[in-house]
Amino acid sequence: MRVLVTGGAGFIGSHVVEALTAAGHEAVVLDALLPSAHGGGAELPASGPGVRYVRGDIRDADVVADALRGVDAVCHQAAMVGLGKDFSDAPVYVSCNDLGTAVLLTAMERAGVRALVLAGSMVVYGEGRYECARHGVVRPGPRAVPDLRSGQFEPPCPECGAALRPGLVGEDAPMDPRNTYATTKLAQEHLAAAWARAVDGRAVSLRYHNVYGPGMPCDTPYAGVASFFRSALARGMAPTVYEDGAQRRDFVHVRDIAAANLTALEAVHTGAAAHRPGCFTAYNTGSGHPHTVGEMAAALAECYGGPDPVVTGEYRLGDVRHITASSQRAARELGWRAHIPFAEGMKEFAASGMRTAPLQRA
Ligand SMILES: NC(=O)c1ccc[n+]([C@@H]2O[C@H](COP(=O)([O-])OP(=O)(O)OC[C@H]3O[C@@H](n4cnc5c(N)ncnc54)[C@H](O)[C@@H]3O)[C@@H](O)[C@H]2O)c1
Ligand SMILES: [Zn+2]
Repeated sequence: MRVLVTGGAGFIGSHVVEALTAAGHEAVVLDALLPSAHGGGAELPASGPGVRYVRGDIRDADVVADALRGVDAVCHQAAMVGLGKDFSDAPVYVSCNDLGTAVLLTAMERAGVRALVLAGSMVVYGEGRYECARHGVVRPGPRAVPDLRSGQFEPPCPECGAALRPGLVGEDAPMDPRNTYATTKLAQEHLAAAWARAVDGRAVSLRYHNVYGPGMPCDTPYAGVASFFRSALARGMAPTVYEDGAQRRDFVHVRDIAAANLTALEAVHTGAAAHRPGCFTAYNTGSGHPHTVGEMAAALAECYGGPDPVVTGEYRLGDVRHITASSQRAARELGWRAHIPFAEGMKEFAASGMRTAPLQRA
């Protein structure tokens, strides 16, 4: 199969390209090398056997049409990621992520490409699943600033104010994006679903949880929490953990995510049972083993050889408290599950390179 990997020079995209070529497939990489992700002066690797690199923007219809020549399926990783600096980033997030997806899907329609795997995200859920002893499953709204200021980080039951028990979120949970980035990731899914219906395409969104591993970009307003901690350690500084460190996440290794993409691409390409024409299906892709952010900082610091993390009590408004997933649907329908254990993955991540300049990785 020949696969167009948008954002294929990025952290996850480059691992997807590796997985594709290792499995004997061909990849066409289309990446704009966004300065927010790669810094200035970045360059793509030279094309070689099995991989063609094209520098260009997914919002440019001509460039996308050219990249789609001879392609069987699209793996859409290109996006502006992270929380960004502040709300003024909204136009560029919406442009890259949603206008970009619309241009890409239109070009796919014209080129007759009917198989899509989208890099989705768990951010579409907002707060994860919570249960109140009295009210059952409830949906806490955004946390109040005075609560966060006074160190009340747990969202209370919206009915009775009691403490809640966090659980695993399934794909059918209500959507509740809490910031601009999350909103654009949800819109990408809706566009993919609309495209699939309109053109009889097959679309899958893999809702990644917190992806980490070799080649992760260094800390910028666009990076994830594992990147902040790893970058601090590399500077000889303690990782600073926000809130009280007890916020729960599912940290999943980038090679497991690359494998999920490969499996999903094969499913949409061949039209496996659950992936009929006209259908859009979302899959949580997590490790299935939640950890707190504090645990992750401690594990990474230990593997790196210190210093120990410092818990600061600071907070970011767009952050949710707990979000951990059930990835049972992916296991059942795609036959995918994560394999790399947390301790092993953190040990490797502590010892491996990050993306300081473009595509420099150990
Ligand atoms: N890293 C995570 O934990 C995580 C979690 C959930 C979802 N995701 C999703 O996974 C995908 C890949 O993320 P990543 O962590 O590898 O980020 P990344 O920034 O390393 O990679 C994204 C790549 O897309 C490219 N790009 C962005 N806009 C583009 C455009 N308009 N045209 C062409 N190329 C463009 C960038 O240059 C970059 O190389 C994104 O869609 C992101 O939303 C990531
Ligand atoms: Zn209650």
